Amino acid sequence: MHLMGKLALTSIQGDILRGTERIRVIQESVIREMTRKAKKYDAINLSQGYPDYPTPESVLKEAKEAIDSGLNQYSITWGTEELRKEISEKLSSFNGLDYDPTYEVTVTCGSSESIMSTMLGLVEKGEKVLIFQPFYENYVPAVSIASAEPVFSTIGKDMSIDREDLKEKAEGGLKAILLNTPHNPTGKVFSKDDLRFLRDLCVDNEIYAITDEMYEKMIYEDKHTSLASLEGMWERTVTIGGFSKVYSVSGWRVGYSAAPKGLMKPIRKVHDYTTVCAPTPFQHGTIKALELPENFYEDMLDYYKRGRDFLYKSLKETKMDPFKPQGAYYMLADISEYGMDDIEFADYLVKEKGVAVVPGSSFYHDGGEDLVRFCFSQDIDQLKEAVERIKD
Ligand SMILES: Cc1ncc(COP(=O)(O)O)c(C=O)c1O
Repeated sequence: MHLMGKLALTSIQGDILRGTERIRVIQESVIREMTRKAKKYDAINLSQGYPDYPTPESVLKEAKEAIDSGLNQYSITWGTEELRKEISEKLSSFNGLDYDPTYEVTVTCGSSESIMSTMLGLVEKGEKVLIFQPFYENYVPAVSIASAEPVFSTIGKDMSIDREDLKEKAEGGLKAILLNTPHNPTGKVFSKDDLRFLRDLCVDNEIYAITDEMYEKMIYEDKHTSLASLEGMWERTVTIGGFSKVYSVSGWRVGYSAAPKGLMKPIRKVHDYTTVCAPTPFQHGTIKALELPENFYEDMLDYYKRGRDFLYKSLKETKMDPFKPQGAYYMLADISEYGMDDIEFADYLVKEKGVAVVPGSSFYHDGGEDLVRFCFSQDIDQLKEAVERIKD
């Protein structure tokens, strides 16, 4: 073999080995592990975020009809034209954002894929991406798989962000800030003031924003603001959303990303070569989801708010100290009074009490051993039963 060929091959093998190493060090999903344990011990599963609110009939019907009428093959890679148009209209009316559905909206296999394809498409090897901790557990693997470096800034127990720390990290060089609002697992809804601060950081230091707005319709006392809608942000933001939680179709795997054409181009390439397209019949069902009337959202919010208020009040009556979420359907609770760390506590709860929760440390790069996360997306009777078991 030609020497250059040999050298090139060695270097590719080196890269593959480094890549394999990178995958090996990523820990397996603790949330999905807790779901497996919930099954094993026949426990009430308050770990993984399964939405329990009924999927609207019109949405189910449309997907079934799509299958029956033969819409079972690949769609256009970026998503059906109709769905992209509907998403673009929703982004305009709800988020105050203008995106051209032809080039600037891509339908993906869940928002998880949007996060991954955005990282792989936009972030180069060794570049830094800021993640707020606690974090949704897919973020760190997405950054690592893109060979980038995650850096962390902590959301305090009072839900505040650390502005000095963020400033220092931004000035130290960041490619992107990954923002999730409403936030999993804290339930924090980033205030307008927080968002303006992040906007200034991004604009002054030429940083991209990747915003995961999965729970935008699940805010209990306020209204959602998209970071991209702030002046100077549209051009540097990838806005990500999904249908899994709000419409209770987490198994359908339909989400989307929206970004200016120049940013979207590399994201679309990754999407094309990884998943080709989101499932066609479910894209059709999703169109109906976007046509639901306003009272669907009001009823859904009432349902989850009842769960939130019940769980918060009930945990307050134990030795746990819960944090009241402003959005989404997760609740962190401090367990330091129990003399166990988060892993021991979660293990004890699932094995001895039949309730599965998630150890807090799985949401942190460093910390969280004094926390567990409850998901209150289950119906109120399940929550009552879980609380009875815990209090027993
Ligand atoms: C913050 C956040 N983003 C993304 C996802 C993944 O959603 P999807 O089903 O759209 O991939 C989840 C799921 O729990 C989540 O909590």
